[in-house]
Amino acid sequence: MKADALLLFGITGDLARRKLFPALYDLTAAGRLEIPIIGVSSSVWTVDDLRRRARESLEDAGKKIDEEVFERLASHLCYVAGKYEDPDLFDRLAATAEGSHRPVAYLAIPPALFPVVITGLARVGLDRGRVVVEKPFGRDLASARSLNALLREFYPESEIYRIDHYLGKEPVLNLLVFRFANALLEPVWNRHYIDNVQITMAEAFGVQGRGAFYDSVGTLKDVVQNHLLQIVSLLAMEPPVSADADALRDETVKVLKSTRSFDPRSIIRGQYDNYRSEPGVKPDSETESFIALKVEIESWRWAGVPFYIRAGKGLAATITEAVVEFREPPRMLFADDQRAPHANTLHFRMKPDYLIGLSLQAKLPGERLVSHEVDLDVQTETELGVEGPEAYERLLGDALEGDQRLFARQDAVEEAWRIVDPVLTNPEKVEIYQRGTWGPPSAMNLVGPDRHWHAGENLDGA
Ligand code: BG6
Repeated sequence: MKADALLLFGITGDLARRKLFPALYDLTAAGRLEIPIIGVSSSVWTVDDLRRRARESLEDAGKKIDEEVFERLASHLCYVAGKYEDPDLFDRLAATAEGSHRPVAYLAIPPALFPVVITGLARVGLDRGRVVVEKPFGRDLASARSLNALLREFYPESEIYRIDHYLGKEPVLNLLVFRFANALLEPVWNRHYIDNVQITMAEAFGVQGRGAFYDSVGTLKDVVQNHLLQIVSLLAMEPPVSADADALRDETVKVLKSTRSFDPRSIIRGQYDNYRSEPGVKPDSETESFIALKVEIESWRWAGVPFYIRAGKGLAATITEAVVEFREPPRMLFADDQRAPHANTLHFRMKPDYLIGLSLQAKLPGERLVSHEVDLDVQTETELGVEGPEAYERLLGDALEGDQRLFARQDAVEEAWRIVDPVLTNPEKVEIYQRGTWGPPSAMNLVGPDRHWHAGENLDGA
């Protein structure tokens, strides 16, 4: 069911500025947003200040503003200012949202404020619709459970929308479509043909002014517990029985359920050399800005196939890529001494461009019967000539329209925390790495002596 009002808590904040206003504008342009947008925040602003902020945000996002669209968006904006602890704020909010039967409350605020906001909404009956929350969904398994208990006190699971923006990304969704739209993959998509899977999310930049936040989180909680375990689930899941939200999420949860909790001793935690002098970072910080680890999925399909993850900041390149490496041919039939055929690899590049690449072996022209690597690469956006919506446009639109498929379900959130929890309670010391490299040298060896990391092999600067 469609929402009839959007209550946007934290509308003067950073997330709204960077992501939510551009998404609201795009939804307005697409004719998908004709409801009141009631911004809430403690800043003493007028609605004109808010409209100005909306315009700045669109300009910062590099949008070409269509004035007619902007006017429509601006005409929907209202603003209610006040301290979240003040009951009067919620009375005024209820008066502004009067007549709305299905409001969506979007909590773009620190999780510490969730209890006061949710109970405030409930007191005035504004919990009758849906709630949207942003990651982090807790700091560990115990706090994730308490957050959920709070949400579930007022909303049923079917009305709780947990945003992991990775699930709104075109190339991430392509993992799902590509796998199940190509029948040729299924026979080889298992431990008999796949040797290992590698997921790299590397960022060349540092903490970008978010030092205090990042230092309280680290790479494992920032991107592995959520984004990267979602990617693992999409790559490893069984075909869902239907396309509905629960069928899809049932399968991703099964992958997490069959995944072993991480062993802190077999994980590589790194920190770039000048991390501790970043503003907001503690001078003796032991927070990781890099992590490399092996995910073990003990299912019938995947037992014995390592899924390696490496992620971090201050690295050699900005690239997000999943690489599926197949087993080598059983005999090096047409090899010469120097060049044995490499195993085939299938690359899904999600950043900086969208690429699907298959690396195969073909005969090297010439006298000899030897093979050489050839890459069949497709830049999906260029090839298909269409640009998809930004993640936040897609997810905000889905939340307003009531489509839960791309939102994290609580059981998945808890399983993901169960997997990472041992590392949080018992972390090994960080290894310092030089900025602009691929992390501590030990991360290179994680994939074993006979394998290497593939991500970005054909990317400049990688
Ligand atoms: C966020 C993390 O969730 O994802 C950031 O907090 C990270 O640290 C970001 O940089 C990466 O997202 P994207 O969409 O830029 O790949």
